[in-house]
Amino acid sequence: MSLLPTAELHLHIEGTLEPELILALAERNGIELPYANLEDLRAQYQFTDLQSFLNLYYENMAVLQTEQDFADMTRAYLRRAAAAGVRHAEVMMDPQAHLSRGITLETCVNGVASALATSEEQFGVSTELIAAFLRDEPAEEALAVLENLLAMDAPIIGIGLDSAEVGNPPRDFVALYERAHAAGLKCIAHAGEEGPPEYIREALDLLKVARIDHGIRCLEDENLVERLVEDQTPLTVCPLSNVRLRTVDTLTDHPLPQMLERGLNVSVNSDDPAYFGGYMDENFNQLQGTFAFDANQLAQLARNSVRSAFITDARRRELL
Ligand code: ADE
Ligand code: ZN
Repeated sequence: MSLLPTAELHLHIEGTLEPELILALAERNGIELPYANLEDLRAQYQFTDLQSFLNLYYENMAVLQTEQDFADMTRAYLRRAAAAGVRHAEVMMDPQAHLSRGITLETCVNGVASALATSEEQFGVSTELIAAFLRDEPAEEALAVLENLLAMDAPIIGIGLDSAEVGNPPRDFVALYERAHAAGLKCIAHAGEEGPPEYIREALDLLKVARIDHGIRCLEDENLVERLVEDQTPLTVCPLSNVRLRTVDTLTDHPLPQMLERGLNVSVNSDDPAYFGGYMDENFNQLQGTFAFDANQLAQLARNSVRSAFITDARRRELL
């Protein structure tokens, strides 16, 4: 299958840390990992739900210590994404997951941003950076980190909300999103991955987000589906992630075809590709192997990603 030019809108840069790079950075930084070797590390990549993945995801971040580490991780993603047909990437990072380990905002933000800055020239991939906040940590902490990002003039285009969803509803983060809107930032949030449709409504009504990350549980609420179709709210769906985190049993059970059929504005994204078995191309390959989408459906998925991106109309025309 030829590669479709796409925009990747749902990608956690820390989720692109491949096992080989984890071991190389551990060696470079003299960090002891609880794994004897690559095989031992790879054996941990069996997840039962979102939390079981998050435990390993946060643990592995211990190897990210210097700006160079963050830049190397980011550059490796951009190289791989370009090979997968990605032409524009909106990359989330989790500053709180680094601050809590004693890594400064400057180190993590500047490291990622330095690799993003040369991406268009180096890989032909335009980029934006989004700071995601951890919904299982206090909302006051998130607000304080946002203030620090604004004070340092961090090159972020927007904010997101991620980590353990159930029990951590969007309504707890109204002040954070009000501040972000007032600062002119784009606003997105994970909702309806493991959490109920009500969380999608809260993200729209209370946080006033422009896109929903995942959103697959909207299908449980017919009125919500009709609203999302009417408004063409982008839903950044991550098929391989949903399978690996057991939100769906198998790819065959994934609701993406149904979502497309209903006229929802769905795109395909890789979420944490180093953990979930594939980048953008592999997501499309497996979808194609499972659902045999026709050319129109494939083009629609690619087009949805471009029309939902935070880019200028001129860049959008280049990509459509
Ligand atoms: N952080 C990284 N990946 C995530 C996901 N799929 N859901 C919530 N938080 C995340
Ligand atoms: Zn995600």
